[in-house]
Amino acid sequence: MSPAYRAVKGTRDLLPPESEKYAAVESIARQVFGGYGYGEIRTPILESTELFSRSVGETTDIVHKEMYTFLDRKGRSLTLRPENTAGVVRAALERGIDRMPRPLRLWYAGEQFRYERPQKGRYREFRQIGAEMIGVPGSASDAEVLVMLFDFLQRLGFIDLSVTLNCVPGGAGREAFADALRSHVRPRARRLGEDDRRRVEENPLRLFDSKDPETKAVLEGAPTTVEFLDPEAASHYAEVKEFLRESGIPFTESPALVRGLDYYTVTVFEVVSKSLGAQNAILGGGRYDNLFADLGGPPLPAVGFAIGEDRLVEVLPGDPREPRELWYVLPGSPEDFPYAMAVARALRSGHAGAVVETDLSGRGFAKGFTRASAILAGDADYPFRVSEVRVVSVGSQERAEQTVKIKTLSARREEAVPLAALTRRSRT
Ligand code: HAM
Repeated sequence: MSPAYRAVKGTRDLLPPESEKYAAVESIARQVFGGYGYGEIRTPILESTELFSRSVGETTDIVHKEMYTFLDRKGRSLTLRPENTAGVVRAALERGIDRMPRPLRLWYAGEQFRYERPQKGRYREFRQIGAEMIGVPGSASDAEVLVMLFDFLQRLGFIDLSVTLNCVPGGAGREAFADALRSHVRPRARRLGEDDRRRVEENPLRLFDSKDPETKAVLEGAPTTVEFLDPEAASHYAEVKEFLRESGIPFTESPALVRGLDYYTVTVFEVVSKSLGAQNAILGGGRYDNLFADLGGPPLPAVGFAIGEDRLVEVLPGDPREPRELWYVLPGSPEDFPYAMAVARALRSGHAGAVVETDLSGRGFAKGFTRASAILAGDADYPFRVSEVRVVSVGSQERAEQTVKIKTLSARREEAVPLAALTRRSRT
C-alpha cells in the first residue's frame, strides 16, 4: 500500500543511523569551533523577505528564483531562510553589536531552504554548518577561519581537499570590473539565454553563476576580478595566501570564482569534492565587509563560511560517530522483564556513555544472541557505531539468585556477576 502522505519534494526525513551521523558531525563542529572560541547562535528559520533581497542580492539566483516566500496572515512578506549569514548579521545588529565581544565568533547548524531542482546532494530543504567571525579587518581573520575549517574537515577524515580561492573587488573596483565585463560580453550577448542577457545589464558578476555552457564559453577570456583590486585588497589577498602556505592549507586560485551571493568583498573561497561533481561545492565562504553597513549597522568587517551538511555527510570518508559499548540486556522470557529493567538501570548508573538496551521483544535467548551479534557486525539499522557488545542474560535462575550472566561477544567470554556489583563495574 502506498502511503497517503509523502515528504514534500526536495525534503527528506533523517532516521537512524543517518540522523546519528548528522548529530556526530554537529558535535565535532561544536568541539572544533568551540576550541577556537566560537559560541553557537540559533536564528529563526523565518525572516523578513527584504533581509535577503538586501543582503544576498535581488539579482542572485537565490533571491530571484529560489526562495520560499509567502505573505503571513497580516500580509507581511516572509521567507524561509535560504542561508544563515544574513540572519546572523541581523541578530547581531538587533541585540546591539556594540555591547558584544569583539571579535564576535559565532557558529550555527540548521535547515535552509532553496527551491532548486533536487538531485544528489541538492535538496530544497538542506542543512548548513557555518561560522562567522565579526569585527576583524585583517587577513589573519580569513586565515584563522580557513585553518579552523580545515581542522574540522581533518577531524572528519578528509585528507585530500583543496580550497579554491579568489578575491573580488568592492566599491569603485567592483563597478569598474562590472563595466569591463559588460564590454566583453555585450558583443557576444546574442549567444546568451534570456536570464543571462538580463544579468549583463543588471549585475554582470552574476554571469559567473550561470550553468549554461554557452555563457561559460562567452566568459572565456573575460577580464578577471584580481585586475580590479585596489592596493589594500590586493595586499590583503596576498597575505591570506601567505598565511595559508604557512599553515599548510592547499589552495588553487580561480579567477572565475565570484560566489553566488552579492555581499562578498575581497576573499572568496569554495571547497569542491570530486565525488559530488564540480557543480556542487561542499562549502563556500568569504569576507563581507559591507554587509553590516548595508543592513543599516556600523561598518563592521566580517568573514565566514557555510558547509552543506547533507553534501558533507554524503562524502564523508569515515564514520563520524564515536564508537560506543553496548550492554544488551536480554531477558529469557517476559516474566524476566521487570528484573531485566532493574538490571539495565543498575548498568546505566555504572557505565556513563555506554548504550544499555533492554530487549523487550520477547524473542528469547537464542534469537537475542543472533541480534546482538548482528549489531556487533555492523547491522546497518542500528543507530550507533558499536565497539563491543556485552550480552547480559537474565533468566529465572539469575532472577532468583539476583545475578546476571555477562557475555562479551568479541572475547566469547561469559561470567556470572551479582546484581549489586553492576553499578560499580566500569569494565568487565
Ligand atoms: P552558499 O555557497 O550559498 O553560501 O552555500 C554554502 C553551501 O551550502 C554550499 O557550498 C553547499 O554545500 C550548500 N548548499 C547550497 N544549496 C544547497 C542545496 N540546495 N542542497 C544542499 N546543499 C546546498 C552561503 O550560504 C553563505 N551564507 C556562506 C557564508 C557564510 N559566507 C560567509 N559566511
